[in-house]
Amino acid sequence: MERTLVLVKPDGLQRGLAGRIIARLEDRGLKIVGAKMLRMDMELARTHYSAHVDKPFFAGMAAFMTSSPLLALAVEGKQAVDAVRALMGATDPQKAAPGTIRADLAQDIERNLIHGSDSPEAAAREIGIFFEAAEMHDYALQSAPWVVTGS
Ligand code: TYD
Ligand code: MG
Repeated sequence: MERTLVLVKPDGLQRGLAGRIIARLEDRGLKIVGAKMLRMDMELARTHYSAHVDKPFFAGMAAFMTSSPLLALAVEGKQAVDAVRALMGATDPQKAAPGTIRADLAQDIERNLIHGSDSPEAAAREIGIFFEAAEMHDYALQSAPWVVTGS
């Protein structure tokens, strides 16, 4: 079983789309094992997006990510990293496949609604940034047989 970090970005909350985004994760069989609402600050932006701090889009992206609260979720499932990335779609909603969260709901490459870790190693690092061990919870998820949960 694998875990990954999801952020419902500020646009997700501002546009009232958090429930629909979470529903897509749940419908896929992913289990929410951690959840918190917070306002990202610049220090957190630089830590979380450490691979992007020197990119030309970082300043605008960080300004957006720190502009309003977001929802951090730790989610668990079989190949959870890839499962979430598939649900998200490509970074640019214009290039994302129909049916993905970004293609269906997002406005542009910056306001693209959702973050998902891009590897199991990144997921472990990012979950550690947002959650203490005591803030992670386990429980039995009762799921349909076609989804990613289960062995
Ligand atoms: P990246 O990790 O490349 O995308 P993803 O979220 O799909 O893993 O980039 C992180 C975020 O930075 C991305 O979700 C939105 C923002 N971004 C821009 O604003 N402009 C860009 O050109 C890129 C590549 C990313
Ligand atoms: Mg990324």
